[in-house]
Amino acid sequence: MKTISPNLDIRPATTTINELSHLVIGGCDTVDLVSQFGSPLWVVDEDTIRLAAKACFDGLSTYPDIRVCYAGKAFLCTAMCKLIQELNLSLDVVSGGELFTALQAGFPADRIFMHGNNKSAHEIRAAVKAGVTIVADNCFELDLIATIAREENAQVHVLLRVTPGVEPETHQYIKTGQNDSKFGLPLDSVPEAVKKCLSLKDVITLKGLHAHIGSQTHKIEPYLAIVDILADAYLQIKNEFGISLPSFDVGGGLGIAYTEADKPMSIELWAELIANKTKAAFTERKLALPQLAIEPGRCIVGTAGVSLYKAGHMKTLPDGAQYLSLDGGMADNPRPITYQAKYTAAIASRMDSVKRENPISLVGKYCESGDIIVKETDISAQPGDIIAIFGTGAYNYSMSSNYNRTGRPACVLVKDGQAETIIERETLEDLIKHDRIPARFLTKARQ
Ligand code: LLP
Repeated sequence: MKTISPNLDIRPATTTINELSHLVIGGCDTVDLVSQFGSPLWVVDEDTIRLAAKACFDGLSTYPDIRVCYAGKAFLCTAMCKLIQELNLSLDVVSGGELFTALQAGFPADRIFMHGNNKSAHEIRAAVKAGVTIVADNCFELDLIATIAREENAQVHVLLRVTPGVEPETHQYIKTGQNDSKFGLPLDSVPEAVKKCLSLKDVITLKGLHAHIGSQTHKIEPYLAIVDILADAYLQIKNEFGISLPSFDVGGGLGIAYTEADKPMSIELWAELIANKTKAAFTERKLALPQLAIEPGRCIVGTAGVSLYKAGHMKTLPDGAQYLSLDGGMADNPRPITYQAKYTAAIASRMDSVKRENPISLVGKYCESGDIIVKETDISAQPGDIIAIFGTGAYNYSMSSNYNRTGRPACVLVKDGQAETIIERETLEDLIKHDRIPARFLTKARQ
């Protein structure tokens, strides 16, 4: 059977329209979901995540030893940890909070990789105690890991994050592989870092090199380039230190289709070309094949997510331009205002509606003029409609905020007609939970 690659479609893989002309995801009528769970609402389609994970494994299937490491920063909660565990994925965490989430969910520590360019001593200690692999960003961090490992009487598996000097075509804020990146070791510092790891071998076991060049990338060429660059580094390490590193991690970054204009490559092909290139690059250099890891986040969960909003007030400007206000916006989806990200909208409650002639902008409810979720769409949305925005599974919940003291929406996981809350909606009480009032405001007014 042909592998289905969800990242090529704007809509989740299970999307249908029912006899009421309502959008249906995971067998659930989205209008009913809003009645039941309220709005705004994040809906996550389990089957789309399953298909994306399968596409990764299928693409890597000819490579002898592989690891597919889901990048939790895209979307993480305890239910997501359970799902990715069941799918045999490993997990990349990037903070003490993500690590805690994974461990609380019972995710196996030997499948967790801890990233970060400035991990605190507290975060490193938590990682060392749990026994997760640490992706060290720099030599300063190696010393910190060693000190903590000695205190904890632990042996720590480490990958070294390398900046390969490769720049993919994507928004400048989400490029990470270029020479001026804040992340990782410059290539010419790798030997020094390897030497340091070897000098600390009583507590650090160096497993391999890691690179991640950026996010929402559509092309394979940068990946082929980093495989060659890193394979050269493995050869140099072998020649200089006489060791063959057993693991090799090329990071994540494959994009998804947010609009018709986005043409990412399929997940399976992306993984397959990386696997083939890795085999060729290591074989050419007469190096043993290391375990190959990829670290996708967005292409696993991005297309699975749909945001549902209720449309309220419509404003018409003198020139005829129109704004339709949604009941959410930049606090639950900060990507348009942060990266000028584009999304595709549909009227979930009237999927049979005809397109309008003059475009309309779907704007958020937050106090910023830049809070525009979709600029100029041709759907004939009206006040009272339920609006769906596709492709919001990755970096929406995880980057959401309480701006304007608004609670985060609930998140429901849908599958086979069942919808279950996996993240509760934040309440008004949640918003003041951490507020404290200095005592002087609580004493009686001075006489
Ligand atoms: N591995 C590492 C070390 C990373 O830093 C990232 C993403 C990934 C893997 C996963 O990349 P993905 O496959 O999801 O592209 N907030 C931005 C994206 C930032 C990505 C940060 N690192 C956005 O909303 O577009």
